[in-house]
Amino acid sequence: MKLLHIDTSILGANSASRQVSAKVVERLKAVTPDLSVTYRDLAAEPLSHLSGTHLAAAQGAVPEEPELQKDIAAGQAVLDEFLAADVVVIGAPMYNFTMPSQLKAWIDRILVNGKTFRYTENGPEGLVGDKRIIVAISRGGMYGAGAPAAALEHLETYLKGVFAFIGVTNPEFIVAEGLNIGPEHREKAMQGAIEAATGLRAA
Ligand SMILES: Cc1cc2nc3c(=O)[nH]c(=O)nc-3n(C[C@H](O)[C@H](O)[C@H](O)COP(=O)(O)O)c2cc1C
Repeated sequence: MKLLHIDTSILGANSASRQVSAKVVERLKAVTPDLSVTYRDLAAEPLSHLSGTHLAAAQGAVPEEPELQKDIAAGQAVLDEFLAADVVVIGAPMYNFTMPSQLKAWIDRILVNGKTFRYTENGPEGLVGDKRIIVAISRGGMYGAGAPAAALEHLETYLKGVFAFIGVTNPEFIVAEGLNIGPEHREKAMQGAIEAATGLRAA
């Protein structure tokens, strides 16, 4: 069984989402025999933005620039890694009401027509069926149902939509929110998220 662990926070050792995603992986390793883990830190090694040249390369054009060749290979590597994983664990902090651009750049590389989705006469169809995705979300404010800022929540809702689009309809979310309200609130929210991670079923 293969697990892909992705972190995206720019806050290094102080990151809440990194702490929770690490706990998720620790838990799954403890309860799943023969789990092999691949780790990718998208803040330390970011993927570049998509460009027209990337799209041309996807259609078969061979770019001449060595840097671009390297970047296209990196995009292919993250796609292969994602497709090969049985379980994907993502640390996803909220920055400016949505995900870090590092995570968006990764999504731009895994939403590939013909690989993770396709268009049919009946509309788009997701091709990534049997994969478990667990997202550790961290947010400074509160965005739950009824919160005044709920309409600005474009992280969890976006990821749900994207994963459903490629065929993963039941992603699991562990949310630590209100982390910037104050130390007490942060401690409680982190404790709740760590407890949720510790109670996860085997991979
Ligand atoms: C650049 C930046 C933008 C942020 N934008 C938001 C935001 O829009 N809404 C929010 O609730 N918190 C926001 N925060 C707070 C983070 O969501 C919070 O600090 C969270 O713990 C970040 O997760 P991390 O510690 O894993 O990086 C922002 C933090 C940073 C650094």
